Amino acid sequence: MKVGAVWRTTAARLAAVYTVLFCLGLALGLIALYAGTIGVIERQRDATLEAEVRALSERFREGGTARLIPAIEARTGPQARGDAVYLLATPRGRRLAGNLTTWPREAAGEGPVTFGVSKRDGEGVVQRQVRALAFDLPRGYRLLVGRDSGDLQEFRSRFLRVSLWIALGAVILGVTSGVFLGRRVLARVAVAAEAGERISAGHLDRRVPVSDRGDEFDRLAASVNGMLNRIEALMQGMRIATDSISHDVRRPLTRARAELDLALRRDLDTGETQAAIARSLAEIDRATGLLGHLLDIARAEAGVPDDSWTEVDLAQIVADAVELYQPIADERGITLSADTVPTKTRGEPQLLAQAVTNLLDNALKYAPAGDGAVAVRVTADPVSITVSDNGPGIPPDQHSAVTERFVRMDAARGGEGSGLGLSLVRAVVRLHGGTLKFADNAPGLIAKVTLPGV
Ligand SMILES: Nc1ncnc2c1ncn2[C@@H]1O[C@H](COP(=O)(O)OP(=O)(O)OP(=O)(O)O)[C@@H](O)[C@H]1O
Ligand SMILES: [Mg+2]
Repeated sequence: MKVGAVWRTTAARLAAVYTVLFCLGLALGLIALYAGTIGVIERQRDATLEAEVRALSERFREGGTARLIPAIEARTGPQARGDAVYLLATPRGRRLAGNLTTWPREAAGEGPVTFGVSKRDGEGVVQRQVRALAFDLPRGYRLLVGRDSGDLQEFRSRFLRVSLWIALGAVILGVTSGVFLGRRVLARVAVAAEAGERISAGHLDRRVPVSDRGDEFDRLAASVNGMLNRIEALMQGMRIATDSISHDVRRPLTRARAELDLALRRDLDTGETQAAIARSLAEIDRATGLLGHLLDIARAEAGVPDDSWTEVDLAQIVADAVELYQPIADERGITLSADTVPTKTRGEPQLLAQAVTNLLDNALKYAPAGDGAVAVRVTADPVSITVSDNGPGIPPDQHSAVTERFVRMDAARGGEGSGLGLSLVRAVVRLHGGTLKFADNAPGLIAKVTLPGV
């Protein structure tokens, strides 16, 4: 993978930012360490130099060079500290006392100064750093008090060298971890992207691989896969629907056409012609009825505009449906009972009524004629409508399938039907934010619709 591609990743950028922040923190730490060690020593040394200058200039004020020269000689004599540097010079720069031969060029005015001196060290001559304080005495005399700071200098440069190495190490660590992280992240993205490309290329059954790490990538992959599953299911539904429309809607139309065609060609009397027309009309009604159901489902799935929603009393809707179906129940010898309490929900009254009607229609259609029993219940907490019958029921593994369009479990068993009733119930329930569940009534089916309350 190219460095440019790694750099474009969020991980590499984050690693870069962390590296910079880490280096900044490190620099602050090193500065603090420097100030707390070398800095303290330097300040102490400067304070000592100042005290020494003050003491010597006091002697000069008391007794001039006559007092000062012996004091300096005492400090530079054989008993003195090896790292002390003193120089007393005349206004013309000639040495009066001290262990420096000439006044250093660097110390032009008053104040602190650092310069190098050559020192005899055993056989050889070595260069040493001296930190000193220059001071102008009265009448043009000049005083220089210093200390050899070679060791401190050495310590300081070693400290700087080590600091640089540490900083370099931090940058290398940051950059390598950034590149490493970037590669790892990119590899997983590349796998997902490749799966996406294959899916786009037409392999609709392909899915984005999900590892068992359960991290953000897995969540993303799982949600993309969920989306793909849904799309696939919808597409399959569409395919079944179009197949079924061309089959189920065409069939009655073909029959009507054949009926009319036959009537036209044969020399029928008025009664026979009317009967043929009536049969054709019934077939055409079936076709339009099917199309009407499909439109209802499409409308419920698309979501009707909210302004047609009102507060609906489910008990009322159920009472109306029961009244509508009572004659059919009587005719088939089925006892139809209703147990309701006033229950309000918000929704589209017509669609809700249609859903209840479809459930009731199924219960009465599949309950055994003669000794069937169908019960409708409405509860307020939770808001629900339950329709139960004592028919053959639906096996649990078919519960979700029967709500698909045109799915009929066993076309022969129930006679008439298009397999659209439960599809509409499901669409309406979903539209209202509710759920549709089936259960076993042993024997029979319990269809339960739960809806949100107001
Ligand atoms: N109460 C029930 N008892 C047993 N099976 C049922 C019941 N309700 C539905 N089913 C099964 O589920 C299938 C789908 O029902 P759905 O209401 O969608 O279609 P349908 O009743 O066959 O036709 P229609 O479109 O006229 O309602 C039915 O064909 C039937 O096999
Ligand atoms: Mg039905």
